[in-house]
Amino acid sequence: MSYSPVIYPSDCNALQIPIGKFGAYRSRPVGLPGKFVEELKTLLWIETIQSPIMAKLKDLASSTDLAEILNHHLEHTSDQVDRLGYMLKSMGQTVVARYNLVFETLLREVMQQVDQCESCYMKDAAIISGLRRLEHFEISGYENAITMALVLEETESLTILRHSLKEEKMMDQSLSSISEDVFLMAASYSVLADSDSIVFRNYFPSSHH
Ligand SMILES: [Fe+2]
Repeated sequence: MSYSPVIYPSDCNALQIPIGKFGAYRSRPVGLPGKFVEELKTLLWIETIQSPIMAKLKDLASSTDLAEILNHHLEHTSDQVDRLGYMLKSMGQTVVARYNLVFETLLREVMQQVDQCESCYMKDAAIISGLRRLEHFEISGYENAITMALVLEETESLTILRHSLKEEKMMDQSLSSISEDVFLMAASYSVLADSDSIVFRNYFPSSHH
């Protein structure tokens, strides 16, 4: 791999955004071990903040399959929070969650999309598409942390993180497996609700005169 060192301007903190009650985004530059700890603390925030949201989405879901998937993942999420706390403690770190602006924005977007749906089918479709977006954000976080753990030879963390990643991928897979059926129901409802909709033309081209 070729690697050209980049000289950063001395003011490399210029892009750091102060975030509300959580204080400064980052107080000082960190090396890879510090970055690994930050990644774990960010994952801790993500896992903690999404639990009540997932519980709410579970209550809003009409599909029993979807509610079941959410219920199952809620249990995993609470284990994942414990695992992240354990990893931080065993590295001598404080168990403090690190705020993430992007994930908060994603969560708000998902809730807004779900709130805007009138039919239960469209609501389920919005829950699934929103959750998959969140899942992929989490998956990338775990994958980054795993690569860092590998490089830093944090072998215990590596095993634990791989376990959590497997659960996240299972969740995404489960959502994917029901998404077509749920979206088809949403499409059928759209035909009834709005005979001139794009969905009508896309799904039933031959019956649209
Ligand atoms: Fe998770």
